[in-house]
Amino acid sequence: MNTMILDGRKISGQVLETIREDVMEFTELTGRQPGLAVIHAGSDPASAVYVKNKQKACKSVGIDFRLIDLPDTASPETILAAIDRLNEMDSCDGLLVQLPLPSPEFNENEVIHRIAVAKDVDGFHPESIGNLWSGAGIIAPCTPAGVMELLKSYGVPIAGKSAVIVGRSNIVGKPMAALLLREHATVTIAHSRSVDLPSICRQADILVAAVGKPGLLGREHIKPGSAVIDVGINRITLDNARAAWRDPDTEIGAKLAAKGFALIGDVDPLAVDGVAAWYSPVPGGVGPMTVAMLIKNTLILAKKRNGITL
Ligand code: GUN
Repeated sequence: MNTMILDGRKISGQVLETIREDVMEFTELTGRQPGLAVIHAGSDPASAVYVKNKQKACKSVGIDFRLIDLPDTASPETILAAIDRLNEMDSCDGLLVQLPLPSPEFNENEVIHRIAVAKDVDGFHPESIGNLWSGAGIIAPCTPAGVMELLKSYGVPIAGKSAVIVGRSNIVGKPMAALLLREHATVTIAHSRSVDLPSICRQADILVAAVGKPGLLGREHIKPGSAVIDVGINRITLDNARAAWRDPDTEIGAKLAAKGFALIGDVDPLAVDGVAAWYSPVPGGVGPMTVAMLIKNTLILAKKRNGITL
């Protein structure tokens, strides 16, 4: 079987192209650009890369990007005060706080609850989550929304199919279940306590991996002819890479040899080829889609706040 690669770079580029035109229209109508604000506290290197990517994407489509960059030592009160200010600021249409927060001193729920629902571009506020599950929402969390866009772009059948999501996070696993259910899939969420994970996963016509464990899912987890969507992003080095991944004739092996590290998903990339019918790889699959969906969500909220018909 030929495995079709779901190319997130290509599809996200197409999505951003359409949004660029809508942003121009918004700017002409309102006399200002749509605005996205990101609060980033701390020095987590992965978060810094994600924030940079968000900034680049905003710039490329004409969205005004405002970064509130705070040190590791920022207090919860400082972050809450920044949220309050941006909630009130008319030029800010979308607002998010980059997670994880810098220390256990922070109450993540308190921070998320403080964001105005009308500006909740991540869709993490409890009211946004309720709207997502009840079908009343106008946006969905960016990563699962990106997965849906990828599946639809490549015509992967969803209605009536069995979907298994591995991972139950608030950011990916749970909202992913809501979106697949909305499209009439039969949905299972599996997690670290699930008994006999391989046999659960082998039922999946659509398998979504979002656990953050490099190469956790292998050949024994994949139903032939299925769609495998890898959401994990894990950094591996020569020290902790499996022997098969170090083979310099493979893409990962070549990267490991050249740089000493490589990014790998939750699915063993060597297990998918010729088995799955569709495969969203790491990198170049869901990652770029997440950013495109953030931009799309910003525009949707900007239009809603300004009374522009969706
Ligand atoms: N950290 C990892 N993914 C995300 C995301 O989608 N939104 C926010 N705010 N933080 C994240």
